[in-house]
Amino acid sequence: MTEKMITEIKGWMQEAAVFIKTSLSTEMAVSQKSGRTDLVTNVDEETQALLIKKIKEQYPADKILAEEKGYSTIDSLAGRVWIIDPIDGTMNFVMEQENFCIMIAVFEDGIGKLGFIYDVMKDELCWGGKGIGVFLGEQKLIQPQNLGLSAGLLGMNAYMFGEDIHCAREIGHASMGVRVSGCAGIELIAMLKGNHIGYVSNLSPWDYAAGLVLLEEFNFLYSTIEGEDLSFSGREYFLAATPKAYNEIRTKFLDK
Ligand code: IPD
Ligand code: CA
Ligand code: CA
Repeated sequence: MTEKMITEIKGWMQEAAVFIKTSLSTEMAVSQKSGRTDLVTNVDEETQALLIKKIKEQYPADKILAEEKGYSTIDSLAGRVWIIDPIDGTMNFVMEQENFCIMIAVFEDGIGKLGFIYDVMKDELCWGGKGIGVFLGEQKLIQPQNLGLSAGLLGMNAYMFGEDIHCAREIGHASMGVRVSGCAGIELIAMLKGNHIGYVSNLSPWDYAAGLVLLEEFNFLYSTIEGEDLSFSGREYFLAATPKAYNEIRTKFLDK
């Protein structure tokens, strides 16, 4: 079952990626959601529709939580739940035509089973699952070292760093350097590869669901920035890091 599902999901992501790449040479309909810097395009919506169609054909009884149009809330995580971000990094997609990801997670009764983060323009798929490990394409990744905050780069949300929310500047300055990609998926891949020690951001469930499944395989720690469990509903300040860096960030900067 799992093998079959993994093969299916990879195929759907490839199909979605072809659709997204093709759409780059056509005129896109871009509209604002909550404001000027919160965009959605017809490509986000159509990619989500493509993925949902595939899931519903194969797994009609499953529940779906996805960012766009009518799928953005769910009553509970009971049963099998698919969590989808059709284009993570829409601003990058519109402005740069690169540095965006497709993300899919499969949860069962609240437990993360499979996670897929696909950097479309780099053609880099980071995927894996509970008890399966973490892969980059065909290559199995090794668990990154448990480095402390001062020893590594830290992914951050630009607004949080700029406005110094939850001591973001102090935390950032204590790291080797802050990196801001504008795409949660890219930040999560950087952690899984061992390139970044952590990520501090403001995220919705579809931004972190796939990442959590993979972070867990490598024993990274994650929670809301206040140290609470993530709720899988609405936006929350998010912290994920190596155990060493996570504990330093929580105890030195946030609990002081
Ligand atoms: C956004 C990106 C961004 C993060 C935002 C997300 P979207 O996702 O992941 O890096 O800072 O909080 O909303 O809206 O482009 O799918
Ligand atoms: Ca997103
Ligand atoms: Ca999105």
